[in-house]
Amino acid sequence: MTKLKIAVQKKGRLLDDSLSLLKQCGISINNGKDQLKAEARNFPLEVLYLRNSDIPRYLEQGVADIGVIGENLLVEYDRNIETVMPLGFSKCRISLALPKEVDYTDASYFNGKKIATSYPNTLQKYLDKKGIDAQIHEIAGSVEIAPNIGLADGICDIVSTGSTLFKNGLQEVEIIGKSQAVLAKSKLLSPEKQAILDKLTFRIESVLAAKNIKYVLMNVPNENIAKVSSLLPVLRSPTVMPLATEGWSSLHTVIKEKQFWEVIDQLKAAGAEGILVVPVEKMIL
Ligand code: PRP
Repeated sequence: MTKLKIAVQKKGRLLDDSLSLLKQCGISINNGKDQLKAEARNFPLEVLYLRNSDIPRYLEQGVADIGVIGENLLVEYDRNIETVMPLGFSKCRISLALPKEVDYTDASYFNGKKIATSYPNTLQKYLDKKGIDAQIHEIAGSVEIAPNIGLADGICDIVSTGSTLFKNGLQEVEIIGKSQAVLAKSKLLSPEKQAILDKLTFRIESVLAAKNIKYVLMNVPNENIAKVSSLLPVLRSPTVMPLATEGWSSLHTVIKEKQFWEVIDQLKAAGAEGILVVPVEKMIL
């Protein structure tokens, strides 16, 4: 039977969210400890646990069919592969940082300076665009330590919470790019594998669509149903069902959580009672 091979990070910031996404898609993986290849039990999928930096190349060569990877790595390695969809997790910035004592004004500060990074191509493109002549010192990891040990004047690295910069006495001075986890695919997919991928992307889209969406139920006096409905931006129209108590109905709808908080006071003012907010697991679009 044809199986789609998905590459995920062996370890690192994307791994947990990648596996959790597959789980939310209803895919169970037979995973042994330290196993580098695993089969899904209920979906034609094989999971390959690979080094982050190897994934773009393996996708280009068709060793893996699809992969979950940071967008920043796709930019860095510039391989002949396709992005299928952004996945909405592992959001981060690619930034330039300097020791916090530096009185920074603008990017021209980096002229003649040495910058340590694991993303030399991304950095070089930025420097070229800005017309800055700086020296790039490529290192594989622990980039933030470089200025402290005299290896470089500044760094270019991933910043998420900013805590690593802070702990190493650095300040973020320029954001040169943004990134998040994406699903990427090889250009060598057979039609059979593409069909499996279509099924998987359908499930992923349903999971992602349900994020930040809530199912809300509330009791509303019948005369206020129109008013309450107008406060709730809904998919189509709310479901309204009569309650046993004369003159009252139960109103159900789906709403973005953020919008809900914006209208909650108005809902209460319009007589809505017993409001329940329930998570939505999947939303089929
Ligand atoms: C990245 C990056 C920073 C850190 C930033 O490393 O290299 O060290 O995350 O995150 P923060 O802003 O939340 O502190 P990662 O943990 O991905 O591992 P790496 O060293 O292998 O790149």
